Amino acid sequence: MKSVLITGGTGFIGSHTAVELIEAGKEIIIVDNLYNSSEEVLNRIEQITHVLPKFYKEDLCDKEALRRIFRENDIDSVIHFAGLKAVGESVAIPLKYYQNNITGTLNLLEVMQEFHCKKIVFSSSATVYGDPASVPIKENFPLHTTNPYGTTKLFIEQILTDLCHSDKEFSAVLLRYFNPIGAHKSGLIGETPNGIPNNLLPYIARVAAGKLERLSVFGDDYDTIDGTGVRDYIHVVDLAKGHVKALEYANEHQGIEAVNLGTGNGYSVLQIKDAFEKASKVKIPYVITSRRPGDIATCYADTEKAKKLFGWEAQYSIEEMCEDSWNFTVKNPDGVQ
Ligand code: NAD
Ligand code: UD1
Repeated sequence: MKSVLITGGTGFIGSHTAVELIEAGKEIIIVDNLYNSSEEVLNRIEQITHVLPKFYKEDLCDKEALRRIFRENDIDSVIHFAGLKAVGESVAIPLKYYQNNITGTLNLLEVMQEFHCKKIVFSSSATVYGDPASVPIKENFPLHTTNPYGTTKLFIEQILTDLCHSDKEFSAVLLRYFNPIGAHKSGLIGETPNGIPNNLLPYIARVAAGKLERLSVFGDDYDTIDGTGVRDYIHVVDLAKGHVKALEYANEHQGIEAVNLGTGNGYSVLQIKDAFEKASKVKIPYVITSRRPGDIATCYADTEKAKKLFGWEAQYSIEEMCEDSWNFTVKNPDGVQ
């Protein structure tokens, strides 16, 4: 049977996608250097699916290791999650981000070509839209980035575009995620951020768990419903199911498509705080602080293209996203270690 290679498959989104692919009857192989995840995630995937995925602890920057993986397996498609993703860190140490994300991807694509594997689904981000002129954001909006992390996403999108133009048998889907949150219903897999979280949901979850004192709300003077930033939060399981559909699409079509994965709904920071309080039954203390540099007021997706191309749309509500995130936090106070 042909296999799907999942790079970064022990990470947050990769592990949920691994579960959905196994449940869809696919054979998967995971490669991850465990820089930002734990091998224990593989046992958790097995507990959920009764399948222990074949795993390689390797770095995509090691091209020979990649060749060995392709030599030892019959891989016909790749879902490429592996990458560094902390925006602030990417500003402080840009070369590490360019080295890891770009070199890793170039190695992967070169080895894929060597082994005639020509289907890839890539984890891009809504960050490639920069500060959009209007919402909802459509895939054909102008692209612009404000930090090295975002620029690696944009560069990789361009590399894949050029590759698909040069090789007509190649097929690539660029998935532009909005804000993935939540966790698998089992509470066995979820998000384990390193150190103090930068993103809203993991931060709120730590406050609710009593590990951080209070939430800082970054600005209440935006032109939004209550002055706080509005984002399109999407349940990670919905996102994972979107990957299964995107892979089916890549298997049936050649060329390249960029597709938003979001819900099309925007929620403010205070609305999310309220929803999390309801889900956890814990009061979240907060203070309003100044805006975070680089933040935008409002960001949510136009979801028509995903519906049309994949027949996919997000199902989970914001309440379920918060409940599942809290369930994971309670069951794994220190994340999956
Ligand atoms: P994550 O950090 O949980 O998962 C990424 C995985 O890739 C980790 O397990 C890490 O160990 C691995 N990895 C990193 N560099 C590697 C390398 N050189 N070789 C092998 N493995 C490597 O992140 P995530 O939240 O699951 O994100 C997955 C992808 O989606 C990333 O590319 C990220 O940039 C993108 N993305 C994430 C979000 C988000 O909010 N989580 C939003 C938009 C896009
Ligand atoms: C962040 C990244 C972005 C990435 C996206 C999805 C930054 C600057 N941007 O965007 O590149 O594509 O995640 O992973 O990191 N907030 C608070 N207090 C907090 C944390 C966040 O008020 O402690 C607010 C933010 O101002 C924002 C909202 O919550 O309005 C969501 O923030 P976050 O979860 O960091 O996501 P993004 O800003 O959308």
